[in-house]
Amino acid sequence: MCWIFGYKWVKKNAQNILLNWLRKLEYRGYDSAWIAVWNEKWDFSIVKAKWKISNLASEIENEKWDFNFWISHTRWATHWWVALENCHPHTDSKWKFTIVHNWIIENFSKLKKDLVEKWYKFYGETDTEVIAKLLEENFDWDLFITVEKVLPKLEWAFALLVMHKDFPWDIVWVKYWSPLVFWEQKWEFYFSSDIWALWGVIENVIYLEDWDLVFVKWDEFIIKSEWKLTQKPFEKIDIDLTVAEKWDFKHFMLKEIFEQPEILRRLYWWRIDWEENKLVANALQELEHLSIKKITFVACWTSYHAWLLGAYWLENFAWMDVKVEVASEFIFKNFNVSKDRLFIFISQSWETADTIEALKLVKERWWNTFWIVNVVGSTISRMTDTWMFLRAWTEVWVASTKAFTAQCWIIFLLALYFWKNKNSEKNLSHKEFLEKISDLKKIPNILEKILWDFEKIKNISKKIFKYQNFFFLWRHYQLPIAYESSLKLKEISYLHSEAYPAGELKHWPLALIDEDFISVIFAPNDSFLNQNISAMQEIKARKWKVLLISDSDEIEDFWADFTIKIPEISEDFYPFLTTIVWQLLSYEIADLLWKDIDKPRNLAKSVTVK
Ligand code: AGP
Ligand code: GLU
Repeated sequence: MCWIFGYKWVKKNAQNILLNWLRKLEYRGYDSAWIAVWNEKWDFSIVKAKWKISNLASEIENEKWDFNFWISHTRWATHWWVALENCHPHTDSKWKFTIVHNWIIENFSKLKKDLVEKWYKFYGETDTEVIAKLLEENFDWDLFITVEKVLPKLEWAFALLVMHKDFPWDIVWVKYWSPLVFWEQKWEFYFSSDIWALWGVIENVIYLEDWDLVFVKWDEFIIKSEWKLTQKPFEKIDIDLTVAEKWDFKHFMLKEIFEQPEILRRLYWWRIDWEENKLVANALQELEHLSIKKITFVACWTSYHAWLLGAYWLENFAWMDVKVEVASEFIFKNFNVSKDRLFIFISQSWETADTIEALKLVKERWWNTFWIVNVVGSTISRMTDTWMFLRAWTEVWVASTKAFTAQCWIIFLLALYFWKNKNSEKNLSHKEFLEKISDLKKIPNILEKILWDFEKIKNISKKIFKYQNFFFLWRHYQLPIAYESSLKLKEISYLHSEAYPAGELKHWPLALIDEDFISVIFAPNDSFLNQNISAMQEIKARKWKVLLISDSDEIEDFWADFTIKIPEISEDFYPFLTTIVWQLLSYEIADLLWKDIDKPRNLAKSVTVK
């Protein structure tokens, strides 16, 4: 799903630098990887390896390359399986073109059929190889003209690099949807799918937009935007990556779970002005100009769960009309736009294709869009009208943890904002506002207590990790957390897990539960305690196993098979506590099952394909 390219005037034995840069991009896909360097015979020396970058590292261990330019790529297979013949770069029948590609060519099968009818032979099955053969067919003795002839035939979406053996100093880059940044200084060029790989190497980049083409010739370059010559400014890379290291933790996921109290504390002091007793964000000031009464939330999975929770808060506190949409489905809907409706998008990463497409659709029809995003300088933050950053520090590997809690935190503040600014008798009073934010302040310390008790959670994990099925039966604010906890568990352990409103138990889940299941009940000491305990008894009556999570002092009296006692807090804030408990349990269960926690099979951190 991504690559990096560099062109530098003779660099000695620098393969380790290349590997390090490529490792920074591995979170985008780890099906196969390759590195190519331009050799003294005016050709590429290419080394490929399947799966992780560590495999590629062993392949090039003994190489000593002097080179002046190089490309590397890590694939997340969209078309056909992981095999060296499908690993990039791809080429034409005469081995003249070198093509690297991100994302997918949607009309590839039609294009391929036409080419096969013209007797073109294919060595692999990727959509990318079709581009190479098309370039061959349309070759016009000029690399730039040839690329311009082929591009209109390709249906989105992609970022593309094209080179040709007979024009060794010409390189073409194309961005259409898939992200691409670029940096140039006399004699040096860098291109990358994201700024992370370039961070620490260069300070400024040009963010390319859709349908931007960059033509590099020797030491010069031109940019064409929608086929016309243009100039683009360099922008400073503003990204907080200093904490993207694993330190002594066994996995990134564990480190990121442990970072949460500190991130929430920082967010608290950053977003609440204690002098004035109000919420601080430029984005909120922008909202003051709009009279918003309805909200549509759009996001993809874990971020979508944060919205589901946000919907409860906004409906309950601010009495707002709220809709929550999964981005990949939203695009098929005939959604309503009106002046009083705000579309809010949320994404932990910077490049989620489905969410970006939904945003583009809304922007085509209306202007009230708002983003909550973790990464400054990201594609998303550059496209929307108003945004708020989470600044949860870079979340490196696949399973989202700290970004989710930070999202919930910001959404809670947003709910308070709308509640406070509502022109009705249901307005949040100043006293209530102070109570809510002083409760919020307690959360980081409480989360720390849970983290200190990690040993207890480990002990429970040892008792339950051999079960094959997990059923989460939670209700109210906890329901979105049940969905998220269930996702977290299956995403990294591959165990079967489902989540339902506890009240639905009798409507069908009882038909499925049996002795291979652990039912997880959350029964806080709140107004729903008795109902939750009844649900638990209905399962126990059938002699099936229950893990009970509660802050009640009577937790042991309810006869659950396994129990986890959590600290007390007011009911609006339980979601923060249960989230972290299940992050730890999911982590521990996956670790006991020897799973590759940071790189779950077939996934990638940034989902830049649709
Ligand atoms: C999170 O653990 C998942 N890997 C995944 O569902 C993720 O939440 C989803 O792809 C949305 O990502 P985003 O927040 O970066 O847009
Ligand atoms: N569609 C191409 C392939 O399957 C590119 C995938 C990617 O973006 O890594 O090889």
